[in-house]
Amino acid sequence: MSNSIAIDGPAGAGKSTIAKMVSKRLGFIYVDTGAMYRAMALYLLRENTDKNDAAAISDKCQNADITIKHENGEQVVYLNGENVNGLIRTEEVGNMASASSVNGDVRKKLVELQQKLAAETDVVMDGRDIGTVVLPDSKCKVYLTASSMVRAKRRYKELIAKGQECDLEKIEQDIIERDNRDMTREISPLKKADDAVEVDSSNMTIEEVAETIIELYNKSI
Ligand code: DC
Repeated sequence: MSNSIAIDGPAGAGKSTIAKMVSKRLGFIYVDTGAMYRAMALYLLRENTDKNDAAAISDKCQNADITIKHENGEQVVYLNGENVNGLIRTEEVGNMASASSVNGDVRKKLVELQQKLAAETDVVMDGRDIGTVVLPDSKCKVYLTASSMVRAKRRYKELIAKGQECDLEKIEQDIIERDNRDMTREISPLKKADDAVEVDSSNMTIEEVAETIIELYNKSI
């Protein structure tokens, strides 16, 4: 049986940075499940799907073939054979991903793919429902959090570095609203699995968080 580390948590807690670092050190494959929801969202946008039309989303998602390959240590997402890595990190795709990821048919399709990947190889997988739904039997589950203010400051710094004007209070407000939406949605809400260990990264360095997770993993095997 292959090994896994399941990392869940709210946006901005540092999941992908940490998951990449941990996977490299352990020689596992990093699986970014958010990228799959984003690739699906890109498909739905291209099909001019209304984000509030659940029936259309359920119908159209069946025609999106999403696959993952690992090339030079990077996860590459293919949508119907096209490498879409460079197209899925926009605000528009993020908003569509947030709306369409509440759809049960979208989730069913992507969860199946995620489970298949984890069955084939050792993975560090991050998302919102990995410990609860995708890999409920994983022996190493982490719920990575940070205070809304710390997450807002991280986001603020990223935007300023990109030369974008922004307001810290507004960013924190958006984060709190997004958390609320993710935690209260009907299907697969963001929540800590009963057997997950909560790691609060607010006052930790990236290095400290990675070490903590590797220790948890070593203890779990
Ligand atoms: O982590 P991210 O921002 O790239 O995720 C994009 C969207 O997909 C986000 O709105 C939450 C959703 N998502 C999800 O519902 N389940 C996952 N396992 C991963 C992401």
